[in-house]
Amino acid sequence: MNYETQINEACEKFRALLKDQLCRVEKMKADGDFKDYESLPKIRIGVCGGDGIGPIISAEAERVLKILVADRIAEGKIEIVRIEGLTLENRIAHMQPIPDDVMEALRSCDVILKGPTTTPQKGSGMPNLESANVAMRKALDLFANIRPVRVPEEGIEWTIFRENTEGGYAVGSSGINVTEDLAIDFTVTTSQGSERIARLAYDYARKNGYGRVSIVTKANVIKTTDGNFISDCRKVAAEYPEIQTDEWYADIMTAKLIDKKRRADFKVLLLPNLYGDIISDEAAEFQGGVGTAGAANIGKHYAMFEAIHGSAPRMIAEGRGAYADPCSMLRAVAMMLSHIGLSDRADRLTAALDFCAKEKKLVITGRPGGASCRAYADYVIEHL
Ligand code: IPM
Ligand code: MG
Repeated sequence: MNYETQINEACEKFRALLKDQLCRVEKMKADGDFKDYESLPKIRIGVCGGDGIGPIISAEAERVLKILVADRIAEGKIEIVRIEGLTLENRIAHMQPIPDDVMEALRSCDVILKGPTTTPQKGSGMPNLESANVAMRKALDLFANIRPVRVPEEGIEWTIFRENTEGGYAVGSSGINVTEDLAIDFTVTTSQGSERIARLAYDYARKNGYGRVSIVTKANVIKTTDGNFISDCRKVAAEYPEIQTDEWYADIMTAKLIDKKRRADFKVLLLPNLYGDIISDEAAEFQGGVGTAGAANIGKHYAMFEAIHGSAPRMIAEGRGAYADPCSMLRAVAMMLSHIGLSDRADRLTAALDFCAKEKKLVITGRPGGASCRAYADYVIEHL
């Protein structure tokens, strides 16, 4: 039994991955400050529809956005540009997770509002392309995925700070099939990557008067990368002595979020990529489901705002696309407005969304019988 050839081939692939990741570390070290949106003469907002229910919910989000910033558009301070071509068909035609011309259009914007995109899965018969989401987060270095969940009547006020460019996602499409029987994936942690997400989480906790940050990993098993994530976050925590830090394993955290006696105690959750992905879907369920939750993907030079959920191909296949919930994308619009310095307008939209969710004159069920996406957006607009 001699696997020398396979081992050498795998080592060559691994070597290439290491080079890429070290290159990324150098870029992070040299990276400057956050873009100052208020000093820009004009903010370009790119809107991508995406796949499945994406174009339906994004169209409503764009409509609401245009109403909220109509004066800024008229003054030439905001420009909204449609970016076509982030569709599965086009990605397959180019065999790229983000075709070059789409990437160029994205880079010409300051912030992006993005509908969900379909990720082809291995074995689905579609080419095994990297997820457009993941590719965009990496290409624009959107390292912080911030996902708020609020259930005021239960005292739930969580903000999830999910690291967005590392962990299992950094080289998630570059795992190695060493032999027919042995496959290996990799998970990546860098001190720069952990520090920058931790800093945002602790700054947020400080600014909002939350006295607690909970770090969630599986460091009892994934000792090296999760272990480093914790120690790097702890270094940042030391600069915030007024904030209590506690550590949780991801499995027990999924349980504690269901524990009514404990869950309202959590405020800011700080997690590596994959745990953040999983826990944010669970967390959103308490607020009414993933259809109600928006996310900010923040980097130093770009920011992208989206729904936390996927493109819901099942809804489209069953002809229910028109009944998709626009709230996730509308929450994303609110986060975008606040990120570009228009907090007053963000607050108007958030208040309207909260009011409609409580009043329930219209209710989204995802099916005929419930409100349509368009009608629900009208309902929110009435209450802006
Ligand atoms: C999310 C989504 C994506 C992710 C998918 C679509 C690749 O689940 O934004 O949470 O895993 O990050
Ligand atoms: Mg997810």
